[in-house]
Amino acid sequence: MVVQRLETLGFRNLKDGELFPCEGVNVIYGDNAQGKTNLLEALWLFTGGHSFRGAKDGELPRLDREKGENAPIASLALDFFSEGRPQKAVLQIENGRRSSVINGVKKKTGSALVGKVRAVIFSPEHLLLVKEGPSRRRGFLDGALCQLKPAFARALSTYNRTLLQRNALLKDISRFPELQDTLEVWDLRLAKLGAGVMIERRDYVDKLAPRVQAIYEGISKGKETISVGYSPSVKPSVENFSLLEAEEAFLKELKRTLRSDIRSGFTSCGPHRDDLELELDQISARIYGSQGQQRSAVLAMKLAEAETLAGISGEAPIVLLDDVMSELDQSRQDYLLNHLHGRQVFITCCSPETVSLQETGKRFHVVAGCVQPEEIG
Ligand SMILES: Nc1ncnc2c1ncn2[C@@H]1O[C@H](COP(=O)(O)OP(=O)(O)OP(=O)(O)O)[C@@H](O)[C@H]1O
Ligand SMILES: [Mg+2]
Repeated sequence: MVVQRLETLGFRNLKDGELFPCEGVNVIYGDNAQGKTNLLEALWLFTGGHSFRGAKDGELPRLDREKGENAPIASLALDFFSEGRPQKAVLQIENGRRSSVINGVKKKTGSALVGKVRAVIFSPEHLLLVKEGPSRRRGFLDGALCQLKPAFARALSTYNRTLLQRNALLKDISRFPELQDTLEVWDLRLAKLGAGVMIERRDYVDKLAPRVQAIYEGISKGKETISVGYSPSVKPSVENFSLLEAEEAFLKELKRTLRSDIRSGFTSCGPHRDDLELELDQISARIYGSQGQQRSAVLAMKLAEAETLAGISGEAPIVLLDDVMSELDQSRQDYLLNHLHGRQVFITCCSPETVSLQETGKRFHVVAGCVQPEEIG
């Protein structure tokens, strides 16, 4: 897919206006705090996902510094080419709630945009993917799967709801032991839903892992290796497990941990405890990786995500790279730009020389929220 026009009105510090990117690499440069990341964020919101910086919707409309409050409304419009035709999406943020319009059809939610606009984002926050605990890595898997399959998003939220209900029941059982009889219904439901989540995550990692390896080897000039593996909290006896095998394994584990779960009032096993294992040269990337290695690892995962999304959906997502170049040596930077050839990319940096552009490139200079195009080549 290709973005042809982005319009922002009342969004963050960006001056109201429009932007016409090129089909190749779009470099967005400027000093700190000018609005570069805000611009990427505006594009990202069309995926239907939440702000990648963890901002609340109410914080997105322009802030009135004197009043100390955000304006009630911001609106974004996107013209893009996808599925063989030009399309239009509008995203409105009003009083902290999102609504959208897709090709003239009004939708009550922003998440109605999921699957229409696909994007992969890398921002400095994503380094936490390697550095922090498992929840970020589950989020990485689920974010991609939700963009690919709206049905997965629904299944995951049903699983999470069921999990909350089971946890509430566990707490009640410690006071009213007779309630234990009702637990089995919830266990069966949780195991079925959870097995579905596990299968989707496993299949996705199977597709992702070889791509991450190939890209990481490219980035490190073949000097280092990475391995990525799905590490489910409940381990079925075989790696290539079926839905039924996952369900059985999960159910068995729920039974085994029941006593301690009742004591803690929390379900201690299941997909909500899954992880993704990341090793560089056979040792933990989280514990031993250098800054540059960790950045390269996350980058490889993000670029592999873009390839996998393209492979499954048949259309390449746009690639949003926020401040990716720092900490990468010249050869890693060169690899990155070559690898992105033929894709629509939005890349932010502080100085325009950071990214050397080839034939299909455009530069935008951001100063105090004003985005100025500079055509080249
Ligand atoms: N809702 C808002 N209304 C007005 N201004 C905002 C709002 N949200 C953020 N800003 C301001 O936008 C400015 C630019 O933020 P942004 O993160 O896009 O900068 P940047 O160009 O990416 O900088 P850096 O190079 O440091 O990453 C910040 O100074 C911030 O205070
Ligand atoms: Mg920034």
